[in-house]
Amino acid sequence: MGKMGKLIGSTDFLKLPLLKKGKVRDIYDFGDSLLIIATDRISAFDVVFPSLIPGKGRVLNSISEFWFNYTRDIIGNHMITANPDEFPGELLEYGDEIDGRSMLVKKADVIPAECIIRGYLEGSGLKEYMKTGAISGIKLPPGLKQCQKLPEPIFTPTTKAAEGHDESITFEELAWKIGVELAEKIKETCILLYDKASRHAESKGIILADTKLEFGLIDGELVVVDEMFTPDSSRFWDMKDYQPGRPQKSFDKQYLREYLESIGWDKKPPAPVLPGYVIENTSAKYVEAYEKLTGKKISV
Ligand SMILES: Nc1ncnc2c1ncn2[C@@H]1O[C@H](COP(=O)(O)OP(=O)(O)OP(=O)(O)O)[C@@H](O)[C@H]1O
Ligand SMILES: [Mg+2]
Repeated sequence: MGKMGKLIGSTDFLKLPLLKKGKVRDIYDFGDSLLIIATDRISAFDVVFPSLIPGKGRVLNSISEFWFNYTRDIIGNHMITANPDEFPGELLEYGDEIDGRSMLVKKADVIPAECIIRGYLEGSGLKEYMKTGAISGIKLPPGLKQCQKLPEPIFTPTTKAAEGHDESITFEELAWKIGVELAEKIKETCILLYDKASRHAESKGIILADTKLEFGLIDGELVVVDEMFTPDSSRFWDMKDYQPGRPQKSFDKQYLREYLESIGWDKKPPAPVLPGYVIENTSAKYVEAYEKLTGKKISV
C-alpha cells in the first residue's frame, strides 16, 4: 500500500451503474461482478457523519482482502481482485479515486441471514443474555459479566432486515428458512473461521470479540461475501487492557462514540462536524488495527 490517498466521501463521479450505497460502501454493478468501494465515511449510532476519516476506506478494504486470503483453506469467497491493474478497463480513468479502497467481487445469491459469531459477551448479545439468560436460543451459564469470554464461541444468527434492526433468530429458525443442511454447513464454517481469525488476532495483541459474516451461493457453491473481520463488522479489543465487567478499549468506533457521549449529542441526524483531533485519533485507531493485524504499513 504505502501511497498516500485522496479522501473520498462519495463516488457519485463514477459513470457506472450504482447497485446501492450503504452507510460506508458504494457498490457498482458489472453484471456477473460487483465493485465494492469503501469510502472514508464513518457512521456511529447508525448516523453517517459529514466528516471523513483519512485512510479508513483503504484500511477496511485491505483488512477484508487480508482475511479473504487468510481463510481460503476453510472456505472460498467472492473476491476476484483488489489489485486495480486487474480491474475492468473502464475504471482506469478513476485510478486515483478508487485504487486501494476497491474490490472486484463475484456477484452471489446472498443468503438472507447475518451470521454472527460471538466469543465474548457484549452488545446486543449481552442485552439478550441479561433479559433471557440465552442468545438466539443458546442457553448460557448464569452470572456472566459484560465482555466476559464465553465457554465456547457461539453462532447467533439474525435476520437481514431491509429496514430497521436485525432480529436474532434461533438455529432452528435459520434451518427452517434456508434448509437444515445449508444452515449446518454455515454454522460449522463460521466457528472454524472465527477460531482461525481470533487466534491470529490474539497473536497480534487483539481480541476478536465477535463478528458478522455473510454468505452467498456462486454457481451452487457456498462462499463468504461482503466484508470479513473488519472494524465495521467486528469488535476488536486491546488485549492489554482487557478486563471483564466493563466496556473495553476497542480499535473501532468506541473512541468516537465516547467523544459523542461526552458532548451530549442526541444521536439524531444531522450528525455534528467532528473536531480535527477526533478525526485524527479515529483515523489512527483504524490504521493501528490494520497494521497490527496484517503486519503491513499504510500511510494516511
Ligand atoms: N458478492 C456479493 N454478491 C451480492 N451481494 C453482495 C455481495 N457482497 C455483498 N453483498 C451485499 O451488498 C450489500 C452491501 O451493503 P452495505 O453493507 O454496504 O450496506 P448496508 O448493509 O445496507 O448498510 P450498512 O452500511 O449498515 O452495512 C449487502 O446487502 C450485502 O449482502
Ligand atoms: Mg452491511
